[in-house]
Amino acid sequence: MEFLDTPDTYAAWVGEVDGVLVGHVALVASSSQTVMDIASAALGVPAAALGVVARLFVAPQARRGGTGAALLEAAVDAGWARGLYPVLDVVCDAHAAIALYERLGWKRAGQATIRFSNGHSLDEYVYLAPAK
Ligand SMILES: CC(C)(COP(=O)(O)OP(=O)(O)OC[C@H]1O[C@@H](n2cnc3c(N)ncnc32)[C@H](O)[C@@H]1OP(=O)(O)O)[C@@H](O)C(=O)NCCC(=O)NCCS
Repeated sequence: MEFLDTPDTYAAWVGEVDGVLVGHVALVASSSQTVMDIASAALGVPAAALGVVARLFVAPQARRGGTGAALLEAAVDAGWARGLYPVLDVVCDAHAAIALYERLGWKRAGQATIRFSNGHSLDEYVYLAPAK
């Protein structure tokens, strides 16, 4: 549960189809420093003004049914309602997610390499929600 319920979570939503939980998304206060720096610079606002859409996933059997888009919309609307600019980071090879974001008008602001203490790293794109 720690993955889903971090202390910096503003809110989270689940997707349900016919009474079955099939998806999840959260709005959180922060991502890695590099991601926050890129989004902050692109928007010209402090990191505290960003709402990070995170942990979006839909169960494989429920994909391509609109759940992902609906969850994303819920998180984005909640971000704007809190006076936050919705942003997100996504691994560069998450092609389905990237297609979803770009279809919904999200704009790529940059690319970040996240380095972990175990020597591994992850390449990510940083996206900004379309203007309200
Ligand atoms: C990304 C993800 C959440 C999308 O969920 P979903 O419920 O399938 O999304 P939707 O049905 O709302 O898709 C809306 C649009 O996104 C795009 N899209 C979604 N999946 C796609 C795919 N596999 N290939 C290409 N485009 C895709 C399409 O434009 C789609 O519209 P269409 O079905 O009318 O063509 C889901 O694929 C997933 O959980 N992936 C694994 C986890 C992940 O990568 N999460 C993002 C981490 S940042």
